[in-house]
Amino acid sequence: MFYFSFLEILLYIVLFIALLILKPLFQMLLMKIKYGKKMYLMYFPLLGRIIEFSRGIKKHNDLLYFEKMISQQHPEVEMVVSNTFLGLTHVFLKTEHIKFVLQNQDLYRKTSKVLFGERMLYKGLAFQDGEDWKLARKVLSKSFEFDQLRARIPLIKRLCEEKFDKVQENEPIDIINLSGNIVGEVITQSFFSQSFEDLNGKTFLSEMVDVMVSIISQYREAPIRCMTRTFIFGTRDYPNWTISKVEHQLLARLQNIKDILSHSIKERQQMQNKPADFLTAYINTIQQNPQLTEEHAIQQYIMLIFAGIDTTSNLFGACCYALAIHPEWQLKLREEIQKQYGNYEELNSDNINISSEITNFINECMRMHTPVPYFIEREVKQDHKVGDYFLKKNSEVSVCLFGNHYDSQNFKDPFTFNPDRWNQQNIDPFIFLPFSIGKRNCIGQHMALMEIKCLLIYLLMNFEVSLVNEKQVWTFKFVYTIQDEKFIQLKRIKK
Ligand code: HEM
Repeated sequence: MFYFSFLEILLYIVLFIALLILKPLFQMLLMKIKYGKKMYLMYFPLLGRIIEFSRGIKKHNDLLYFEKMISQQHPEVEMVVSNTFLGLTHVFLKTEHIKFVLQNQDLYRKTSKVLFGERMLYKGLAFQDGEDWKLARKVLSKSFEFDQLRARIPLIKRLCEEKFDKVQENEPIDIINLSGNIVGEVITQSFFSQSFEDLNGKTFLSEMVDVMVSIISQYREAPIRCMTRTFIFGTRDYPNWTISKVEHQLLARLQNIKDILSHSIKERQQMQNKPADFLTAYINTIQQNPQLTEEHAIQQYIMLIFAGIDTTSNLFGACCYALAIHPEWQLKLREEIQKQYGNYEELNSDNINISSEITNFINECMRMHTPVPYFIEREVKQDHKVGDYFLKKNSEVSVCLFGNHYDSQNFKDPFTFNPDRWNQQNIDPFIFLPFSIGKRNCIGQHMALMEIKCLLIYLLMNFEVSLVNEKQVWTFKFVYTIQDEKFIQLKRIKK
């Protein structure tokens, strides 16, 4: 029998915590000695970068203030290294290093830190790897080509008319939720060619997004429990007794959603004349590839909802914010829309992309407020170097876009909102890459831009946009966004 005195146990606990706290500090100091000023060290016991994030919000109303200022305040910095309780994260800021990471994706795998990710996302495109990813990307790509997407413009237009019709004038509205409902419905119709009935008093989509966000937010809601569990059991397959009551309830709601999707997939398999949508394409692939299952199809749909709704609706939110604080651009774009389209019925797949003014405006919104400024963290598969920087197997890497977006060498007066800059700008595709670049780029980028254009054109034809409060805080909720959900109000334009 082992016997430890209370003092010994206390000593071990102190030693263990010291190791957790001191080991990353020691590693980071060694790196600092090696790389000097080119590396920025962001250390805080266990929590690293989170402290800097909260400082950005408190002092500057912007969680990513540091990232936006770094090229002005520390132009020599190429890499930021921070710590979490799981180890070190290396964030690359400079074009050459971002280029290396994105052109050598096989050296990395996407992180497996999403809570219960194996039950909802890891069989989806953004997290798949190797041959599984190649096959899924091939199947899904066809449905995302512009020629396929253009057929969805009438649906997007109809949904814009329906959802905006219910808007209460001069009342604060949740524009991100409103546009998210439109985008989610387009994805669902494209995947299943059908809508689903309301669930738990909400639309099916709202329930689904609510469940996913609530599951992922458990890290924020119960950080100590989640961190300790991950530290002890790793990132997958937690023993049942470590799952809280709230998590059990969320997982039951997730299972309910998956059962409904599963039922729909089974019905489709029996159908004689299958509609030409994502699901049929996926079912055909499953039949030819026995390693794929119904669970893959379900998670592929959840993935598209996860990757497609918040990103697009928050970019639309950023566009609304820019319209509200730059009323001159509201007038300018409204005139342009009047000139190019006259009325909403005229908008179609042949003319949706003709206005460079609209494209410039969207680009400028993405430069200043892109919803995905940090890419999904990657785990290093084997030791290698990115430029001068040595990355050890299992360490973590990410890229941040704001270093480049707010660097005056790339964009003159980077804190000034100036869509006209895009008329002259001949920009390196590795400096401005809101949809990433290379083989793991965003599969939904044409869909997103098409939806944003339909939404913007409808909004400007029918409403004046203003902010509810001058002061707005930029933060992270899944994606980079405005903290206050109801930051916008609309006033109908009299015709
Ligand atoms: C404004 C809207 C959007 C932005 C800014 C955006 C941005 C991005 C970025 C930066 C990536 C790369 C992430 C990384 O490598 O870590 C990505 C990947 C991805 N996006 Fe988007 N996205 C948007 C809309 C959409 C839409 C509408 C869909 C689908 C309906 C979608 C589906 C995906 C998928 C499935 C991937 C993973 C691709 C792969 O790994 O092969 N995205 N997106």
